[in-house]
Amino acid sequence: MTEQPILMFDSGVGGLTVLREARVLMPDRRFVYVADDAAFPFGAWEEPALRTHILELFAKLLDRFVPAISVIACNTASTLVIDALRERFPGHPFVGTVPAVKPAAERTRSGLVSVLATPGTVKRQYTRDLISKWAQKCHVRLVGSDRLAGLAEVYMREGFVDEEAVRAEIAPCFMENEGLRTDIVVLACTHYPFLVNRMRKTAPWPVDWIDPAEAIARRALSLLPPVDGALPQGEPDIAVFTSGKADFAVGRLMQGFGLSVR
Ligand code: DGL
Repeated sequence: MTEQPILMFDSGVGGLTVLREARVLMPDRRFVYVADDAAFPFGAWEEPALRTHILELFAKLLDRFVPAISVIACNTASTLVIDALRERFPGHPFVGTVPAVKPAAERTRSGLVSVLATPGTVKRQYTRDLISKWAQKCHVRLVGSDRLAGLAEVYMREGFVDEEAVRAEIAPCFMENEGLRTDIVVLACTHYPFLVNRMRKTAPWPVDWIDPAEAIARRALSLLPPVDGALPQGEPDIAVFTSGKADFAVGRLMQGFGLSVR
């Protein structure tokens, strides 16, 4: 029997930031990367419609790929449906990606923290609950960006990024209050780590940018039973695009990540 793969799910290329960490920790595992690009951007969806859409899609994905575990490598989806997915598919392990509010609250010195995310993640009750649970002593600003996920998509496909747009999108993250400044920005969208160098360059002052990818990969590893023997030959990692329209640029990008598009 072939080994069951790890399924990684996002609306686009953002989940690749989690895949690259997962590969480091689990080099002997097989991955299926699912980009729900037909529904991109998740950040702009109304909650009930997106919840229904993801639950219906997962019924098909679990059936088709029979994964050992599914990683929802997307904050916008996880903060909305992770509980519903666990309820609907009991017995199948899901790892979610949610804003790294707790580590930010533990690490900040100034007490001024920003959470940079999609408009969807910023609106979620889940996100607000994380802040009241873990960051009561901090001043947390939620910054919803309409454009950054799209800018990251373009950057990864075409190598181009509009730096002035990045500067404008991150500007609201930077607060100054009684001589103190924001010292941590949580990257609460898996697309954003791809733009972190541009963010560093256009930020008004240096901050720590928290990317939870490694922690998510570690969590997935902790839930998996060890691989029994060597990886079967001839089983490449694959990428699936729900639009069915992966163009040349996307194909090349996926190839760079060692994924063959199906
Ligand atoms: N990568 C997704 C996240 O982590 C969101 C991008 C989108 O809006 O579809 O939130």
